[in-house]
Amino acid sequence: MSSKSYGLLEGKKGIIFGPLDEKSIAWQIALAAYREGARFAISNVKVAFRLGTVEELAKLCGNAPLIACDASNSEDLEQTFEQLKNEYGKIDFIVHSIGMSPNVRKKRPYEDLNYDWYHKTLDVSAMSLHRMIAAALKKDVLNDGASIVALSYIGAQRIFSTYSDMSDAKALLESIARNFGARLGKRGIRVNTVSQSPTKTTAGTGIEGFDALYDFAEKISPLGNATAEDCADYVVTLLSDLTRKVTMQNLYHDGGFSSMGISDEIIELLYQKHKSENP
Ligand SMILES: NC(=O)c1ccc[n+]([C@@H]2O[C@H](COP(=O)([O-])OP(=O)(O)OC[C@H]3O[C@@H](n4cnc5c(N)ncnc54)[C@H](O)[C@@H]3O)[C@@H](O)[C@H]2O)c1
Repeated sequence: MSSKSYGLLEGKKGIIFGPLDEKSIAWQIALAAYREGARFAISNVKVAFRLGTVEELAKLCGNAPLIACDASNSEDLEQTFEQLKNEYGKIDFIVHSIGMSPNVRKKRPYEDLNYDWYHKTLDVSAMSLHRMIAAALKKDVLNDGASIVALSYIGAQRIFSTYSDMSDAKALLESIARNFGARLGKRGIRVNTVSQSPTKTTAGTGIEGFDALYDFAEKISPLGNATAEDCADYVVTLLSDLTRKVTMQNLYHDGGFSSMGISDEIIELLYQKHKSENP
């Protein structure tokens, strides 16, 4: 991560949903946003405050207020924005860095999903963005020109078998971002998703075969995989005024992975395998 501050977020206020521990993408986003001069609240489900180390992050970010909120619950979200408005007045950014699939966790194959869990996946990982923006609008907490960023993955467009129902959730998440982007543009409010490389976090490493996915992406991407710290530096540009005309986009932050077919490194690996099997 850049150690230098560009002052990109001086005077901006917001909320960051989803830091659990220092591996979390949202944790790194919080550190980068603080470095750039923002003030913000940090939110997660209550149990994450017990399991994780979020209080430590709050201290590192100038004693940021911690707000417990289940992002799949509209009342919780409305209360969160009410509290935020009392603390800061209107805000300039929201970061949605939330994802969870019981089917992925429990390694259910896509052909045999548990449908209650499928609902949960879509509710927590995608509809939560809808609920979040709807609640923010209801509470009138967003300044004109605000920026909303949610984290996505290329599984929305291409199939990575063990990503299972999370692919559907990410496709829905990206669509929700476009829908709100279209509706909020008149107020200069931007809504984008950032499609990040595989990253070694609690959610990431819960995917079956994650290490293989990670190595494959590393070998395909010309710039190599983007880390959570890299992602944080990118996200702060999207929260800043410098990207004021960027909206309704799914922005790949993946070292070039999404534009590649195959790389020399993978060709060489397959060629060596072929040679050893056909001496
Ligand atoms: N790790 C990766 O490989 C990767 C790649 C691309 C995109 N992403 C996305 O990045 C985002 C952040 O994930 P991460 O990799 O930092 O993992 P993480 O496990 O650190 O973060 C996921 C967070 O979601 C929170 N969460 C779960 N249910 C919630 C609920 N009902 N309400 C509020 N919060 C809830 C968890 O407590 C946790 O803090 C997710 O959207 C994830 O899909 C991750």
